[in-house]
Amino acid sequence: MLPFVKHAMLPKPTHDEAAMQAFVKSLRGHLASRVMPGTYAVYQARIEPAFKAKTGRVPQDQHEVRKLMEADPYYQFWSAMQRRSQELMWDTVLDSTERELPDLIGRARKLQKKAKGSLRLDPNLQVPRYHTAADIHLQPGGYHTEFTADDVAMGAVYDYGIYIYLNGALGPTNNAMGMLLTGYVQEKFPGFRPAKILDMGCAIGNSTLEWKRAFPKAEVHGIDVGAPVLRYAHARAEALGVPVHFSQQNAEKTGFADGSFDLVISHIMLHETSKSALVNILRECHRLLRPGGRMIHLEIPRGNTPLEKFMYNWETYNNNETFAGFMTDLDLKGEALKGGFEADKTFVDAYAPRMSSEQKNYSEEFTWKILVGEK
Ligand SMILES: C[S@@+](CC[C@H](N)C(=O)[O-])C[C@H]1O[C@@H](n2cnc3c(N)ncnc32)[C@H](O)[C@@H]1O
Repeated sequence: MLPFVKHAMLPKPTHDEAAMQAFVKSLRGHLASRVMPGTYAVYQARIEPAFKAKTGRVPQDQHEVRKLMEADPYYQFWSAMQRRSQELMWDTVLDSTERELPDLIGRARKLQKKAKGSLRLDPNLQVPRYHTAADIHLQPGGYHTEFTADDVAMGAVYDYGIYIYLNGALGPTNNAMGMLLTGYVQEKFPGFRPAKILDMGCAIGNSTLEWKRAFPKAEVHGIDVGAPVLRYAHARAEALGVPVHFSQQNAEKTGFADGSFDLVISHIMLHETSKSALVNILRECHRLLRPGGRMIHLEIPRGNTPLEKFMYNWETYNNNETFAGFMTDLDLKGEALKGGFEADKTFVDAYAPRMSSEQKNYSEEFTWKILVGEK
């Protein structure tokens, strides 16, 4: 496991808070590596055979699997523990953040004063309903809620939270997805040197900074609908010495001029939007790209078999990832074509990056979904 890099914007937990955070992180690691695989074993060993004996066939889709699994005590145990660990995770990081909030806000203000990047907020921006209707991942207040002037709390909670959420698999600065996608672009399109890059749904900029590191001459922008995550992203980027331009904008309709960017990217944002927002976002990508420019969106795989699809949708039913379920069988390329991209310049890739032995210590091999469109 790589150590978590403690930059200037992270809250400093007390001894007891750190012990609680370490416990929750280990609990989640244990659930993911030792308990969750048992749900697959139980399905193969007793649930599917019993269904087959009764009906003469295997369950045909994830919905049939769901009815069977939700009645099974082993699955119920894992699911309840998983949900509780998610709630505990936010509890532990909220304690440290709330205690230290005035100081965190002071640190952000100081870092902003000598910033090399920039921050532009829009107090009139309407946060979309797909964020206000439910707290995604059960994060209290989501990405956008503000409790005090110049609030950065939701950013700090997210930064600490996702490290525990994924048991450190996002790497030492939660930057693994940015490294993965910059690596994909360099492998797939060698010689492509984007001069202007936009990261949509950047949150705290954890993936965004990798684009500036991979293309140091590029002007890199990050947009999000949440003001507190953006304030935090800006201060965090300055603390880590990577200048990026952050602004509060809805990816469905931004204020950038037509053809502003060579590359528009996102990391696990699309599944947190909605059916109509998704097409709007892809249409906006098309408008924002100069001719020859590319959009590249990284998404979480949603499983192939009915059982995998059901398991990947645990988050849909238990963790307020409400749109993710809809994404399971969605034709992403078809949605991109509705947004104005051409069929022969658009594709969905499956990407399983080679991992170093160091990465294998803290992360499992994983096949990602990547939507690519060239204008
Ligand atoms: C799962 S987070 C991903 C954060 C980050 N990209 C990363 O790599 O960890 C999704 C982010 O997308 C943002 N988002 C969702 N819909 C958006 C929209 N229509 N416009 C801008 N940002 C949006 C959310 O506020 C949230 O910060």
